Amino acid sequence: MSASPPPETLLAAIREVVGNAPSIPLHEPLFAGQEWRYVKKCLDSGWVSSAGGFVTEFEQRLAAYTGAANVVATSSGTSALHLALVAVGVRPEDEVLLPALTFVATANAVKYCHAVPHFVDIEPATLGVDPAALADHLRRTAVRDTAAGCWRNRDTGRRLAALIVVHAFGHPARTNALAAVCQEYDLPLVEDAAEALGSWRGGRHAGTTGRVGVLSFNGNKIITTGGGGAVLTADAGLAARIRHLATTAKQPHPWEYHHDAIGYNYRMPNLNAALGCAQLQALPGLLAKKRHLAERYAARLAPLAGVTFVAAPQGTTSNYWLNTILLADPAQRSPLLTLAHEQGIGLRPAWTPLHQLPMYLTAPKANLSRTENLAARIVNLPSSPGLPAI
Ligand SMILES: Cc1ncc(COP(=O)(O)O)c(C=O)c1O
Repeated sequence: MSASPPPETLLAAIREVVGNAPSIPLHEPLFAGQEWRYVKKCLDSGWVSSAGGFVTEFEQRLAAYTGAANVVATSSGTSALHLALVAVGVRPEDEVLLPALTFVATANAVKYCHAVPHFVDIEPATLGVDPAALADHLRRTAVRDTAAGCWRNRDTGRRLAALIVVHAFGHPARTNALAAVCQEYDLPLVEDAAEALGSWRGGRHAGTTGRVGVLSFNGNKIITTGGGGAVLTADAGLAARIRHLATTAKQPHPWEYHHDAIGYNYRMPNLNAALGCAQLQALPGLLAKKRHLAERYAARLAPLAGVTFVAAPQGTTSNYWLNTILLADPAQRSPLLTLAHEQGIGLRPAWTPLHQLPMYLTAPKANLSRTENLAARIVNLPSSPGLPAI
């Protein structure tokens, strides 16, 4: 293992890319287009909540951009994930497979369904679920319940109800290979593409290979609606069910309040969608800026011994939402993060792998050695579209 450069040297190299501003956050939004105009138009209309023209426009624009036949805008990526799981049939006491290297919301959404997360390992090339390791794990763990027409975890007896894959930091996971494994085990594939708007594998946008995909428009994402998310699906019936559940399961009627299920208040407000419409118009420009920043990081950091710049996986176009390096030696990460913090530079570690969080310590899991190894070496770099701020 060749040691990474000392923290001072590595930070100086990062500074060469991002500039010398006294504070450089990990990711901040850029509002340089029609944002003020659209938000004002929304305010002037009086339609600021979940009914209004901007929501429909935002959904239509997203559908056109991603190629998804149906889009439902939601109040957050987390609520979109929750609804996606409900809609594909995740029930209490089911198990849902997902990577341990993801934002906590992915597993929390499983718990909101009163189901159990079951963590699987990732691969270095995509930082997403490893199809071969998944197939291997299921070969040993899954058992067919012919009477019930499903697959179960042979250790816990619980039904295996879905696989969630995550396109970590915007890099597309190997969805085609993962979909093939899902088919073998009758698992609906749910794509957590919260970080991956503007990322493609082949000709397919992230989130459009699986039965259902999810986007986030949180303030730290490539485009933002303040808070918000969306569900993408080719299945019109599924989209209708999700839309219905997101709108408190209210039956359409000009004045009656009749609800036919316990739904949720998960629709995206019109005010947020107004911001989203302006941000979507800016997306091609934002993506170009982020690609340029990634190229600059790669050129400056990839040649350094003991540092690997995580490039877009082969066959993909990544939005480079968060630029990522891997340090050869995990012991060098903490001093680097400490120094960066002192200098006001927003370097971040990866999320704590979810199986190490107190509420998921006893969750079923595959061998997660690669997750643990990679998670300990990841450093995310400042990646705002406004960089470099020289
Ligand atoms: C991988 C992943 N999944 C889910 C979410 C949840 O999205 P939100 O914050 O919009 O609820 C996020 C981001 O915040 C995320 O990064």
